[in-house]
Amino acid sequence: MTTSNRSRNPRLSSLIAGAAVDPARRVVIKGGVAAFLLSTTLGRFAGRAAAATSVQTSAAQGLGFTSIPVFADDAVHVAPGYRASVLYRWGDETGIAGAPPAPFRPDASNSAAEQALQAGMHHDGMHFFPLPKGSTASDHGLLAINHEYTDDGLLHADGMKTWSREKVLKSQHAHGLSVIEVRRRGARWEVVRPSRYARRITARTPITVAGPAAGDALLRTQADASGREVLGTLNNCAMGWTPWGTYLACEENFNEYFHHSGTPTPAEKRYGIRRFGLGYRWNEHDERFDAGLHPHEPNRFGWVVEFDPYQPGSKPVKRTALGRFKHESATVSLAPDGRVAVYSGDDERFEYIYKFVSRGRFDPRAPEANRRLLDEGTLYVARFDASGQGRWLALVHGKNGLDASVGFASQAEVLVRTRQAADRVGATQMDRPEWIAVHPRTREVYATLTNNSRRGREGFPGADAANPRAPNIYGHILRWREQNGDPTAETFDWSVFLLAGDPAQVEPAHRGTAGLAFGGPDGLHVDARGLLWIMTDVSASRMERDAFANLGANQLLAADPASAEVRRFLVGPVNCEITGLTQTPDGRTFFLNIQHPGEVPDARADPTWPDRYSRWPDGQPGTRPRSATIVIQRADGGEIGR
Ligand code: FEO
Ligand code: CA
Ligand code: CA
Repeated sequence: MTTSNRSRNPRLSSLIAGAAVDPARRVVIKGGVAAFLLSTTLGRFAGRAAAATSVQTSAAQGLGFTSIPVFADDAVHVAPGYRASVLYRWGDETGIAGAPPAPFRPDASNSAAEQALQAGMHHDGMHFFPLPKGSTASDHGLLAINHEYTDDGLLHADGMKTWSREKVLKSQHAHGLSVIEVRRRGARWEVVRPSRYARRITARTPITVAGPAAGDALLRTQADASGREVLGTLNNCAMGWTPWGTYLACEENFNEYFHHSGTPTPAEKRYGIRRFGLGYRWNEHDERFDAGLHPHEPNRFGWVVEFDPYQPGSKPVKRTALGRFKHESATVSLAPDGRVAVYSGDDERFEYIYKFVSRGRFDPRAPEANRRLLDEGTLYVARFDASGQGRWLALVHGKNGLDASVGFASQAEVLVRTRQAADRVGATQMDRPEWIAVHPRTREVYATLTNNSRRGREGFPGADAANPRAPNIYGHILRWREQNGDPTAETFDWSVFLLAGDPAQVEPAHRGTAGLAFGGPDGLHVDARGLLWIMTDVSASRMERDAFANLGANQLLAADPASAEVRRFLVGPVNCEITGLTQTPDGRTFFLNIQHPGEVPDARADPTWPDRYSRWPDGQPGTRPRSATIVIQRADGGEIGR
């Protein structure tokens, strides 16, 4: 993780040192603060079960399951009365109608062509779309699934010992998305194969560019003189979905795929483009990933990609009006007047939180017009003031000092260089914004700030009201309420909802808002009842080296928004990330992604690694760990979490 923002935006630390957030704005704890006993240490994580770290004594307001202890073994653990099963692993056949058979081979010897017919690697954001479209079916639907990145050491039979065009192609085909058709038969969910809906979108799929930056000179390349068609989508991490039935895949760390045979410019560096990339070697066999030779190619990534999973032949579209950065989430909130707000974080240290507000209004009777809603509107960036109020600052050419005199000749340029525009208007530098979730009834917004070990270090910003810890090792969750509850408002009231980490170490000003020890809040999902589900992503390297080692493997937790009580629902296999939670409309099935089980700390995985961390989910000696979608149900078939 790099830091690209060297701007000097307002740092509120001097204003709020020791004061943190106005206590009057903090969450009120009902029923007493939960008392927790923390165990001592967990020791080394790999291959061992951990002792229980918490004893729960509080009465739950809305959490209807028993919290489980932490674990750090190579298995999925779920709350009593629930069961989890594996549905769709990396390499499983997608089920594309008319495609030749492409069964997974455990030695990873599948070809690039076969990979294009199989689940990609490292599943992330995901959404369940009921079938038929427009129904609330909870036994049949489509899952759109992001495949964020590849670990080339695991992807190829001999890892990265050799390197070839075929391997680059396989890596590109393991990126992007899957759409799979899923059906419940009795209690058991299965992937429908073949399916006319099943498809793969990869790092090579043609994608239309739309919105104010489409066709701009900054998006034109040798291969695409129009600046309106890009091959592929990259690093699809979090996501969103729209009331008109489309999926929004977000492009996060796109910079990692580019090398630069020249010298990166300051503008390129602001997006993390470096001479030697960050581990990928696509440029050696696919020249467009050399930003020195193709300087506009990186400008064609970092967007939100919209597509209709119900139309398998439809072409995805990059929506440039939503800005270009390391997009996390494109969470839609429908305003009373029908306009749509879309919330996004930019996941890098000291980056920003954004909101797009459409000009047009959603109309269920106008499906074609709805498809253009994300092309016209206003992009804002957030400023969190120490008073507990916040303001959305418009990133509009000709406003707030964004004009040609400071390098923005048009709205297209504001959007291609969203980060620099946000620097100029004085947005608040955040602790790695990840997912954003909106409460379905109150429209309150929750955002995870996953961590920032550099906050407070020499040469970096110190703590401020909205990022109150320096360093911030375990992250926190903010929430805000837009003025009058209107998602299109330009001001809001905000507060810290939870500080993650060891509750015993939470600063007095925030004690009581932490409920249970966990770290690295990342994925967020608010269910139909309003429970906040938190998915965690503490990195393997952090787990390896950290003295505070009682967090266990990464987890799915639930928080009661009213009481801020937190319970632990699920713990994943060693060194995985938990992500992608989506549910059926009846709340009786959860689909969840287990990403990168057995991730190797501080290194790209090597298939010859002598002491492989994980064999999940296949479990046999010699098998490779495989990211997978799992299904969670209550044993009695009831609603989850109730
Ligand atoms: Fe891909 Fe920000 O997590
Ligand atoms: Ca994430
Ligand atoms: Ca993360």
